[in-house]
Amino acid sequence: MCMEKVQANIRINELRSLLEEASMRYYVANAPVLSDYEFDMLLKELEALEKEYPEYVTPDSPTQKVGSDLAKSGTQPGKEFQQYPHRYPMLSLGNTYDIPDVEAFAERAAKGIGNAFTFSCELKFDGTAICLTYKDGKLFRALTRGDGTVGDDVTENVRHISNIPQRLSVPFGFFATKEKPYPWPDEFEIRGEIYMPWAAFDRLNEERTRDEEQPFANPRNAASGSLKLIDSKAVANRGLECTLYHMLGDDLPFATHDEALNAAESWGLPVSDMRKICRSIEDIDGFIGYWDIERKNLPFATDGIVIKVNELPYQEELGYTAKFPRWAVAYKFKAEQALTKLLSIDYQVGRTGAVTPVANLEPVQLSGTVVKRASLHNEEQMRIHDIHIGDYVYVEKGGEIIPKITGVELSKRSSDVILPHFPETCPDCGTALIKDDEEAKAFCPNVNGCPTQIKGRLVHFLSRKAMNVIAGDATIDQLFNKALVWNVADFYELTKEHLLTLEGWKERSAERFLKSLQDSKKVSFDHVLYALGIRYVGEATAKSIARHFGNIDAIAAASVEELLKVEDVGLVIAESVHEFFSDGSNMEIIGRLKAAGLKFEIEDAPAKLSNVLDGKTIVISGNFSISRDEMKSLIVAHGGRNSGSISGKTAFLLAGDKPGPEKLKKAESLGVKVIDENTFNEIIGI
Ligand code: IVH
Repeated sequence: MCMEKVQANIRINELRSLLEEASMRYYVANAPVLSDYEFDMLLKELEALEKEYPEYVTPDSPTQKVGSDLAKSGTQPGKEFQQYPHRYPMLSLGNTYDIPDVEAFAERAAKGIGNAFTFSCELKFDGTAICLTYKDGKLFRALTRGDGTVGDDVTENVRHISNIPQRLSVPFGFFATKEKPYPWPDEFEIRGEIYMPWAAFDRLNEERTRDEEQPFANPRNAASGSLKLIDSKAVANRGLECTLYHMLGDDLPFATHDEALNAAESWGLPVSDMRKICRSIEDIDGFIGYWDIERKNLPFATDGIVIKVNELPYQEELGYTAKFPRWAVAYKFKAEQALTKLLSIDYQVGRTGAVTPVANLEPVQLSGTVVKRASLHNEEQMRIHDIHIGDYVYVEKGGEIIPKITGVELSKRSSDVILPHFPETCPDCGTALIKDDEEAKAFCPNVNGCPTQIKGRLVHFLSRKAMNVIAGDATIDQLFNKALVWNVADFYELTKEHLLTLEGWKERSAERFLKSLQDSKKVSFDHVLYALGIRYVGEATAKSIARHFGNIDAIAAASVEELLKVEDVGLVIAESVHEFFSDGSNMEIIGRLKAAGLKFEIEDAPAKLSNVLDGKTIVISGNFSISRDEMKSLIVAHGGRNSGSISGKTAFLLAGDKPGPEKLKKAESLGVKVIDENTFNEIIGI
């Protein structure tokens, strides 16, 4: 074999593993390691090599299949969705960053069709693809793209997205009869994108940053992560929206794509009006040029323009490749970047002791603001990008609170750049840091002695979503510096005399602060649990844990295995909670908070309806006449416990419509009884 061919083969394999890893991080872990542009460029390199050496093309090459978002077991502990095949494969779109490629696409289409035709130009919504099936005017099922052939069933979650109708509506001026409600097809699919508008994204990331959870890298990841939340009701709070852009069905009565979308809109489905019928290449260029500027004023992210042949018979004629339709192409906008010099790196300690590197930059203009600081995430990211102090680095604003560094311009590297050394010790208290390999994060273990961590916990404890006590960071600094407050229980032992010793404090301000502390004793248990500042326990997780166990003593006594049974709780959280309650000093603080009168149990425990399921562990699978969450509450209300996995201890598997085949198999192999919803209703006496 000649040398060039050997080299090509090596590079092909290298590109495939790079792309597969990046694809997994993008679609499944929702934490991309490459920018879209970098990914697309590597994919194009692979395509070119495979074209030159077709003998190396394999059916599983990333050039031949669409990226998979299926929740793989092990990547998201506890998450499990039923999977269903797509009736029509769910493909991706060919894309380009160059106008001449768009023009070539339009010319190719014209040549293939030979007659007059039009293009539908639309925004490319930057979210996660969804396929909705409506049957008899009702939302029947929602599937993610999955691997293009099989998707995850996220119907329950999609029912909590406010602009997706459960039922289609009759357009004004039409009359529905009982026999024929309205001539929408008895069954059709409509595909689109679920996305998170900027405002909701900023709010979510602010919350996550405050809770020291990893913020989402961009609204696309946030949308896709939110769509796969295990708690359907939590989806409602994420502010997701949907736009639909492709209808499919057998014998649809439409001549054009545009007509189909107009009909969908008349049935109450969310369709974008930011689309245009174009008749020439100039029209298309005009549309692209307009949105390249105007997109910055949109309340959501778009990453490009989609150009589609509008006439459905011509779409059919042009057909599909294994990955893309030949009747459409996406023109992608390049993310706005700025190149600037990295001056120094600060290492900041947070409330939970995590040490984060933050870059100080030579000020540079980016999308209308001056950028001086950028996130470097962690030591691993610094290494991956081969960052040196003095380097010229690219900064991008993915909409995050602080911009991020996406790469280094090696051609501008001078000989005097310095390799940064991630600190071995805490920049605040000097204690040796501990590296958490799995998370690539470094932590200061001096939880009870590191001033930044102590003050961080105090600030968090009083914050709005925690105990909601009105106090600024300056107050906490004063209290800490005077040694009046060292841990959160000390707040409730403060007196007016204490406060009056602080500089600038008067009767009125002292009384106001004490009153606010007094009021905080009414805050509900889930907020108190959140206020304790257990690592990885954000607001939503605190709520799930509080609801599951009902009171603090049950949580403190729970084993890691028992904690894992809580919705939303994976191994990392379960271990962190367990560790928190194993620490005697935390238990002592909780004892003092209890004595001060804070709430340590939930008040609205659901009424117990019967004891028929006492001591029984029940696993549910499939769909029921009520939502899965409601079914779980029903089990609890009758004394039972719901568990996600079948074991020898399972009392029975409650199987609804289309139960998971794996679950059925496991129940059979362990001799666990399987009962249906009717039988269950009889047991509980409905
Ligand atoms: S049409 C057969 N129209 O972008 C493919 N897709 O990168 C039909 N997307 O897979 C797709 N906005 O998830 C279409 N106006 C739009 C779109 C759009 C966003 C997504 C979609 C697609 C991906 C390709």
